[in-house]
Amino acid sequence: MEFEEVLFSRRSVRRFQDRQVPEELLEKILTAGLYAPSACNFQAWKFIVLTDRAQMEKLRFDLVLRAPCGVLVTYRNDLYVTGRKHRDYVQSAAAAIENMLLEAKNLGLGGCWICNLPRQGALRRAFGIPRNFDVIAYVMLGYPQEEANTDKQMRYHYGSARDAELRTRRYGLAQAVSRERFTQVPGDCAQEKRPWAEKVRFFVKEHFYKGE
Ligand SMILES: Cc1cc2nc3c(=O)[nH]c(=O)nc-3n(C[C@H](O)[C@H](O)[C@H](O)COP(=O)(O)O)c2cc1C
Repeated sequence: MEFEEVLFSRRSVRRFQDRQVPEELLEKILTAGLYAPSACNFQAWKFIVLTDRAQMEKLRFDLVLRAPCGVLVTYRNDLYVTGRKHRDYVQSAAAAIENMLLEAKNLGLGGCWICNLPRQGALRRAFGIPRNFDVIAYVMLGYPQEEANTDKQMRYHYGSARDAELRTRRYGLAQAVSRERFTQVPGDCAQEKRPWAEKVRFFVKEHFYKGE
């Protein structure tokens, strides 16, 4: 695929075919992760590939079981470099994650970035991760089902059809970009305040939702 086609057509995929990701494609995706920029070029990520359902269950989030495979992205949290106050280790891992998602798309696969995960301590115990590594996110990977991103999925994800509508749009340059200083314009992300009802709904979903 052309680079811009990959870039602008990538969407999160949350429904997958019952088909394993071939090892050579998985390796290409992981390699794309390795080519991401990282703070001070430390490349201090460690990717844990999960294909075993029993291991995926330890993530305690039913959604992840839909994908035949996934990558738990961890990064060292004890490298005290200048960017620490801006959490450079999270940023470095995030760059690797996005590279992997774009390469997945390029190869005809799909994926979803998952941050709804158990606490660090529980993850460390479950996967044998040392204390000086943090889990940054999990990346679901697989062959997409054709009907990815249905309305139903969007409503699950965003709480209501109205919210889904609001958040699935892409901001344009006029809303998302300002010059020299932070500015607000009508309709940008700084204008919307989450109403109380939505906050409560979000809390309930986060803590009590157990899959569709
Ligand atoms: C930091 C981060 C965390 C995310 N966590 C989740 C998650 O826990 N569950 C999920 O279904 N999607 C998750 N997503 C995917 C977003 O919902 C998705 O990227 C967003 O809705 C935009 O849709 P698109 O990826 O199809 O363009 C996450 C994305 C990011 C960047």
